Amino acid sequence: MTVEVQRYRPDVDDTPRLVSYEVPWTQDTSVLDALNYIKDELDSSITFRWSCRMAICGSCGFMLNGEPKLGCEQFLRTYAPGPLRIEPLANHAVERDLVVDLEPFMTKLAAVEPYLHPDPTGTPEPGNLQTPEQMTRYGQFAACINCMLCYAACPQVGLATDFLGPAAITAAVRYNKDSRDFGNAQRLPLLDQEDGLWPCTFVGACSTACPKGVDPAAAIQQAKFAATMDWATEFVMPHHGAPGAKDGGHA
Ligand code: SF4
Ligand code: FES
Repeated sequence: MTVEVQRYRPDVDDTPRLVSYEVPWTQDTSVLDALNYIKDELDSSITFRWSCRMAICGSCGFMLNGEPKLGCEQFLRTYAPGPLRIEPLANHAVERDLVVDLEPFMTKLAAVEPYLHPDPTGTPEPGNLQTPEQMTRYGQFAACINCMLCYAACPQVGLATDFLGPAAITAAVRYNKDSRDFGNAQRLPLLDQEDGLWPCTFVGACSTACPKGVDPAAAIQQAKFAATMDWATEFVMPHHGAPGAKDGGHA
């Protein structure tokens, strides 16, 4: 199959260009296999990220014929007879060829404090247990592998570069919904600001693109509802969402 790969070294090249390679394939040749064939047999200078080969590390996201996909999860047979065009994830700056700059996403993800904030009023019972029902509240959102496909799919990420974006907001909702977490009051101001939740126009492209069934669009709508409820509740219960208040505006 003819596989066209975008090549670009920003420090050397004026513009990105597509380079065509002929790749032998069978029914079980993945797109990542094709890239590794090109690197091993045709052009060792081609640059891309990958690690697990099983749709779990989240590092092999590319645009395949214009759609964000995991390279290890897609097969060449899907694109037969070709050509298949492989480009770096949209809405991201290119560092080299198919490698994009992760820093803006990592900064947004870290900003929502995606970890458990313990109960400031006391030590939890040994093991900090929770019931299956309590885990079900956030389980779907915990399946995110930070692959950034949702950022490549989202038109608002392209328009508002400071928008927190689908996966970071989903991570915030995931922890806010966790019965062991008491960090909602710290996360809410970040979510409930101009570049937080509100650029989302509920296009839903993030959920369509997600390879793990996370449904970030639903997480964002739940967070919008929680932020709105918090705003309304503030009138009748001032300071209800102060640090340590478990249920203050809980998503
Ligand atoms: S929400 Fe889905 S598409 Fe977005 S980073 Fe997580 S796993 Fe990837
Ligand atoms: S190589 Fe890990 S998700 Fe594809």
